[in-house]
Amino acid sequence: MPLDKDVSLLYDELQHSGFYDDEYGGNETYAGRLVVHAVPKDAESVLEVGPGTGLQLKLIVDARQRIRRITAVEAAQAMAAKLESRLAPIMSIRNGHVESIVKSVQDAWSELVPHDVVISSYVGVYLGDIPGYIDRLYELVKPGGVLIYVDAVDPSPPMDWQRFLITSLIMLIGSHLKAGLILSPRDLRRSFRFAKIENNPQYKALANFHGGYHFPIEQWRAEALRHNGKIIQTAPITAIMVCRR
Ligand SMILES: C[S@@+](CC[C@H](N)C(=O)[O-])C[C@H]1O[C@@H](n2cnc3c(N)ncnc32)[C@H](O)[C@@H]1O
Repeated sequence: MPLDKDVSLLYDELQHSGFYDDEYGGNETYAGRLVVHAVPKDAESVLEVGPGTGLQLKLIVDARQRIRRITAVEAAQAMAAKLESRLAPIMSIRNGHVESIVKSVQDAWSELVPHDVVISSYVGVYLGDIPGYIDRLYELVKPGGVLIYVDAVDPSPPMDWQRFLITSLIMLIGSHLKAGLILSPRDLRRSFRFAKIENNPQYKALANFHGGYHFPIEQWRAEALRHNGKIIQTAPITAIMVCRR
């Protein structure tokens, strides 16, 4: 499925309203620590597809000092520019570098080479064939490295909002505790602020492109089995898959 130009424009507009940027953050607000935890301590290179303004990458490079090389494939131009200004100074101090490829990943596969860590967070919906997308990402992981795939579990189980909220909180706190991590009140507050995205007009317009998304937990399990992975379900509607190569 080719990336419609409107998708990247809508994301740039979301960023101008503070989403996926410093003001409200993105999915790293609730999954960020778990993602960092999955990054091997000796990782030197990271490739992220659809990294937005690089907030998750910033958490990773702060925690993993050996990282010297970042490749970002980001379709939205303003997001990619913000990512460069966020990460290039850090990489320059380390004598490393950031390369942003400002195009949709469908047009960038031939330019991509293996990295120690490959990440995709909430991009699968724009790729159509999710199992095929996961295969391609996994092929880009160096031996000893990991693929970290973060996305929605869809369809979501039917439950009223109160039960949904309580279940989500229990699952989120539980998944952190299992990894020996504490989800701080600050993280929680930030993820609630990010959840305001649901009311944003640009976000609502993006829903037109999400119609075909269907990736139920059984399919996550099948993908984990095929790619030496394990699944961390963070809420009824969200999960992380960590696949070792
Ligand atoms: C839902 S946002 C997720 C941002 C960040 N990864 C997170 O989880 O908070 C999706 C991001 O992927 C980018 N994107 C969408 N489709 C893409 C594609 N086909 N290739 C590259 N980037 C894409 C968007 O511009 C946006 O920055």
